[in-house]
Amino acid sequence: MSYADAALFEERLPDRFPKLVTLYEKAKRDFWDESTAIDWDQELTLSMEHRVALARLLSITYYGERAAMTIAGQLVALVPDEEAKQVLSCQVVEEAKHVGAFQRLLKKLDRVHPPSTFSRRLLVDIIETDEPTAKLAGMNLFVENIANHSFHALRDAVSDPLVRQVLDYVARDEKKHTAVAVLYLPSLLERLPPHKLAYLYAKQAKWLTLGMMMVKDGYKDAQILGVDLAGAGQRALKQHYKLREQMKTTRGLLDVPHFDKVIDKIVELLPRR
Ligand SMILES: [Fe+2]
Ligand SMILES: [Fe+2]
Repeated sequence: MSYADAALFEERLPDRFPKLVTLYEKAKRDFWDESTAIDWDQELTLSMEHRVALARLLSITYYGERAAMTIAGQLVALVPDEEAKQVLSCQVVEEAKHVGAFQRLLKKLDRVHPPSTFSRRLLVDIIETDEPTAKLAGMNLFVENIANHSFHALRDAVSDPLVRQVLDYVARDEKKHTAVAVLYLPSLLERLPPHKLAYLYAKQAKWLTLGMMMVKDGYKDAQILGVDLAGAGQRALKQHYKLREQMKTTRGLLDVPHFDKVIDKIVELLPRR
């Protein structure tokens, strides 16, 4: 019997992941419609310089949301457990709404700017990875956490009501997406055969480097907007360790000691405006 047959015609009702079921119920309760929840007719209150800088940063976010929609869809097909498939199906719809929200916001701000080299390489590599454990770690634990903290840093720096409203709605969903990693990743990590651990470590090291470079690419625009990118990086790192502490195993997850010092060093080396 093929893997698809085994999963599709399993007669036993799923009962292994009650917390994922709770998250699935929460996701359905939280559903919002980006077309109607946000007042798109309100005028932007930003200067032209700030609008363009923000459009450049949010273009990277827009590509990230597109990738997240694709990756969540891939994971629905790839993961073996029904409760995970259900909650990831909600994530597909949530990412579709984020894509829709950023389409509208970018049009109002300025336009969609091209991706940076590193954001392109990072997102393409996660999409092309066919190992579900690595894909879930890369997107839901790693990229979603960075995105969440950059949304908060942007929200603190940009006082425009429309921009804040969009970021608030989106950030509320992204929290659920890191929760999928916390609740489900340990079970996948435990089942990962030893020969795939080296692949998982290599992927994480690559994505960590590309992720850092991607954030660095946004540094100039972040400075124009007064966004505290270094602070956001340190908060993202702290949250990453908090998420790890909530997992019953971190087998296979990369740990870089003193990574906070690496972030400080990079910021020190960046030119001041
Ligand atoms: Fe998203
Ligand atoms: Fe997300």
